[in-house]
Parts: sequence; structure tokens; C-alpha cells
Amino acid sequence: MDESDEKLLRSVALQNSRAVLLARERAERELLSAKEALGKARDELEKRVQERTAELERANQGLRDLSARLLVLQDEERRRLARELHDSVGQILAALSMNVGVVKAQVHKLDSRGAKAALENIQLVEQASREIRTISHLLHPPLLEIMGLASALRGYVEGFSQRSKIEVDLKIPSDFDRLPEVLELAVFRMVQECLTNIHRHSGSATATIRIQREGGHLVVQVIDRGKGMPKEKQHESTVAGPSGVGFAGMRERLRQLGGTLEIQSDGNGTIVSAILKVD
Ligand SMILES: Nc1ncnc2c1ncn2[C@@H]1O[C@H](COP(=O)(O)OP(=O)(O)OP(=O)(O)O)[C@@H](O)[C@H]1O
Ligand SMILES: [Mg+2]
Repeated sequence: MDESDEKLLRSVALQNSRAVLLARERAERELLSAKEALGKARDELEKRVQERTAELERANQGLRDLSARLLVLQDEERRRLARELHDSVGQILAALSMNVGVVKAQVHKLDSRGAKAALENIQLVEQASREIRTISHLLHPPLLEIMGLASALRGYVEGFSQRSKIEVDLKIPSDFDRLPEVLELAVFRMVQECLTNIHRHSGSATATIRIQREGGHLVVQVIDRGKGMPKEKQHESTVAGPSGVGFAGMRERLRQLGGTLEIQSDGNGTIVSAILKVD
């Protein structure tokens, strides 16, 4: 190989290594921009996930606010209906009852058909008055605001036992203090719903209600000795799924007050427990 061949070879080698260097530099630049693009796409995706999560959280909060508002409206509506029934139909029935009293005093002036109808009317008016009273008390317990939870529950439980023939043992300390109105209403509604459930679903002949303060907590338990909840209903009511409105409403009311609801149920009966913070 002469000198010119050597020169040529060197220049070719130099060109090759420059080309390799350039190619590598280009590949590195491309890799870098691909990495940047990937990073950007990841950031963008993360941002979107965060936005969607925030959106979902807002929607959830909206739903919770709506449930809270609906429960308040339901209470107000029940209170209004109870008052309306008592003040309108209740008053008309009271006047009717006085009138039939007058007729009763003169029933001897009627023939036997007329007398029978008049006496029947007296009973019907009494029955209608009782029913209006019961419905209005069920809609809104009149004693709750005035006398407090313990008295309202005693009154309610007595009426429930008479109507359902279920023996109810109400265990509440005799010196049980008044609680904030929302708490008393929440506990009253919980007991009302649990007793209704016991009557409708459990087949139990007895029920026990235990209400006590344990430190800074109020513990409410409604216990029956019935057939227990079907397994799938137990699951639904634990995850606040689409069981009835009863447990869902109870759970929501308690949640708003920072409380919790627990249900234990088997073939020997059901225990529904609520724990609420009290000051
Ligand atoms: N004490 C109980 N014993 C046996 N099963 C019960 C009892 N309480 C509730 N359940 C079961 O749990 C289900 C859910 O109860 P929940 O009160 O939520 O709804 P519901 O009573 O069916 O309807 P709603 O209360 O909306 O009128 C009931 O359908 C019933 O099958
Ligand atoms: Mg129910």
C-alpha cells in the first residue's frame, strides 16, 4: 500500500466514524425527545386522572348533599303533614264526635234502624279519630321536641306493641339526658325503622331496644330473635347497596352525624347497632 492509498483509507475511516457519531447523536436526540414526549403524555394522563377523580368526588359530595337535603325535607314534610292532619281532620273529627254525642243522648227518639246507625257512627268517629292520631304520631312524634327521646320512645313503643303484638323491652336509663334535636330525631327514626323491619321481616315475637351512653358515645341497639336477614340483603345493607330505603336512610342520617351503623344477623335473630358521638 502506498502513501496515497493510506491517506484514502484514513479519510474513509474518518468519514465513517463521523457518520457513526452523527447517527448516534441523532439517535440520542430522538431518544431524548421520545422520552420527553412520553413524560408529557404521562403528566397529561396523570392530570386527567386527577381531574376525573376530583370530578367524581364533587359528584359524590353533590349526591351526599342531596341525600342530606332530602332527609331534612322528608322530616319537615312529615312534621307538616302530622300537624295538618291533627289540626284539620283531627279538629273536624273532634267536632263530629261532640255532635254524635248529642245524637247519642237522644237515640231513644229514633226507630231501631236509626238508633243502630247512630250508635255505629259514634264508633266510626272514634275509630277514625284514633287512626288519625296514630298516623299523625307516626309521621312525627309530638313528644320528641317537648319531652325528649326517652318519653317519645316509650309512647311509640307502647303503641307499636299494641298494634303489632310484639313484646318490646325498652332499656333506657331513667336519668337519660336530653340530646341535640337532630340526634334525638335520628335515634327515634332508627328505632322506628328497625321495629317496622322486625314486624315486616323477622317473624320475631319480641324485640329489645338498648340505649346507653358509653363515655363520649351513644350506643343504640335494636335486637330481635327472628329468622335473620337473607345473606344477600346483609351484604347489600353493609355496602349501602340497593336494599330498601330503610337501612340506606338510617346509614345516611348516622353518617351525617359522624356515626356508624352495624348489622349482625343470623338464624337466631338480628342486631342493628348505631354508635354516635355525643359531647
Ligand atoms: N329484623 C330483620 N329481620 C330479618 N330481615 C330483615 C330485618 N330487617 C331488615 N331485614 C331485611 O333487610 C332488607 C332491607 O331492609 P330495609 O329496611 O333497608 O328495606 P325494606 O324494609 O325492605 O324496605 P323499606 O324500609 O324501604 O320500606 C329487608 O327487605 C329484609 O329482607
Ligand atoms: Mg325497612
